[in-house]
Amino acid sequence: MLFKSLVVALAATLVTAVPSLEVKGTDFVNPDTGKKFQIVGIAYQPGGSAGYDPKTGKDPLSHADTCLRDAALMQVIGVNTIRVYNLDPYINHDECASIFNAAGIYMIIDVNSPLVGEAITSFEPWTSYYAAYLNHTFAVVEAFSNYPNTLLYFSGNEVINNLDSAKDVPPYLRAVTRDIKNYIKKNIKRAIPVGYSAADVRDVLWDTWNYMQCAEKGEDDDMSRVDIFALNSYSWCGPKATYESSTFKELTDKFKATSVPVFFSEYGCNTPQPRYWNETLAIYGDKMTPVFSGGVVYQWTEEENNYGLVEVKDDTLTIMDDYNRLKARWAGIDWKTVQAQSPSNKKASPPECESNLILEKGFHSNFTLPDLPPKAQGLIDNGIKPKPSGKIVKVSDYNVKLTVKDKSGKTLSDLKVVPLKDDEFNWAGKNKAETGSASNSDNSTGGGDNGKSKDKDSAAFLSRPMMWAVALPLAVMMIFA
Ligand SMILES: *[C@@H]1O[C@H](CO)[C@@H](O)[C@H](O)[C@H]1NC(C)=O
Ligand SMILES: *[C@@H]1O[C@H](CO)[C@@H](O)[C@H](O)[C@H]1NC(C)=O
Ligand SMILES: *[C@@H]1O[C@H](CO)[C@@H](O)[C@H](O)[C@H]1NC(C)=O
Ligand SMILES: *[C@@H]1O[C@H](CO)[C@@H](O)[C@H](O)[C@H]1NC(C)=O
Repeated sequence: MLFKSLVVALAATLVTAVPSLEVKGTDFVNPDTGKKFQIVGIAYQPGGSAGYDPKTGKDPLSHADTCLRDAALMQVIGVNTIRVYNLDPYINHDECASIFNAAGIYMIIDVNSPLVGEAITSFEPWTSYYAAYLNHTFAVVEAFSNYPNTLLYFSGNEVINNLDSAKDVPPYLRAVTRDIKNYIKKNIKRAIPVGYSAADVRDVLWDTWNYMQCAEKGEDDDMSRVDIFALNSYSWCGPKATYESSTFKELTDKFKATSVPVFFSEYGCNTPQPRYWNETLAIYGDKMTPVFSGGVVYQWTEEENNYGLVEVKDDTLTIMDDYNRLKARWAGIDWKTVQAQSPSNKKASPPECESNLILEKGFHSNFTLPDLPPKAQGLIDNGIKPKPSGKIVKVSDYNVKLTVKDKSGKTLSDLKVVPLKDDEFNWAGKNKAETGSASNSDNSTGGGDNGKSKDKDSAAFLSRPMMWAVALPLAVMMIFA
């Protein structure tokens, strides 16, 4: 017995890992190289909200064969980060986390889910802030904190999505951020950063940013302040959009004043279709990289909202042209240079939390936060029980076993994850597996509007909040059914 456990422990120390990044000022910094890290991300939510079903032991990081397949295909196009929304902390994620780690891919973990008791609500937020909610939230933190490729936690996603929700929600978001950061400080070995993922709704965006990034006067280490601010932005639409017309210039200019790293936690407007990903050239170009830290493409699998890069039916995955076009775009970027920039080394003092920081009338401007709910202090002081705990495990076989077809229907035969060297993260070119190219009919880079959707003004902006709006009542029905 003793011998066996020694072998396991030894193996664990020999497993290679991505470098654990640090937040310094307004950048993610790779401590090994001292260079600024740019997120090249994909939102990973196979099955949509329905892909998360704790009752059946299913969440996006619970099936090793699926993770291996997806990690291989992501590795080929150059992904270095996935964002995962809905996770059950009591499911074992070791194999999936280890596969993504070996592929040089970080994980952004949302601690919430659309299920009741697993998120702060936009409406009457005080009804959702209680000890059992924090118990679940801390469990997600515990479950992922041992993985070297856990990049950050999101304490909320688009909870403030209009002026109505901005009336009551802000102090609850800061309270949850405070609680998670206190939990990490007391119970977790690595100081994993905590951020907020905002809706890019311009009448609340700037106040949300300031409300979340500011620090109480005299507090050097304000625990309720976010370490990172991210936004889900769908304002760059179609091949004719430019840096200026998309308002990415406006975003970049305003975020020059940020005190924390900023990145796109979702992007990839799909109206008009098809997507040519012109925005990625701006995101990883000279103007934006000093201010932004990259972005997360929405999203991996095709669901009803038509944002997918790949289509999964039963256990067969078929590559879509959006994947091929993204691959072609990213192949034209010099990643070595993109990932070798010096951090800004800005002193980055946060603005002071005071009511005149908030500009929009009706946006909550009081920085007194709700106290911890009854019985929650013990969870932080003593740690939660039971305590889910993950670990990196040896991946015995990197060959993809599930069927993958290219756009033309041809089954790909040599698909595998290429395990990277220690302290390396992924970019395009490290896995050279053949995955086909865009189909001829759908390949030209001009035009764009194929008439699939002409509802330009709001469909994309509403897509995510709408998903939550649909998912929440559904979840309530499921629980009370
Ligand atoms: C926390 O959640 C676990 C798992 O559901 C449960 O066993 C435990 O009793 C909960 N603790 C509190 C204080 O709610
Ligand atoms: C978007 O990319 C396509 C293909 O490279 C190019 O033809 C088009 O001019 C780009 N759009 C703009 C506005 O630069
Ligand atoms: C802020 O909110 C707290 C708690 O609700 C309240 O006691 C305080 O008076 C408020 N401050 C201002 C300036 O309104
Ligand atoms: C589509 O793209 C592929 C790969 O870049 C290229 O080989 C092919 O010629 C293109 N087809 C058209 C019609 O432009």
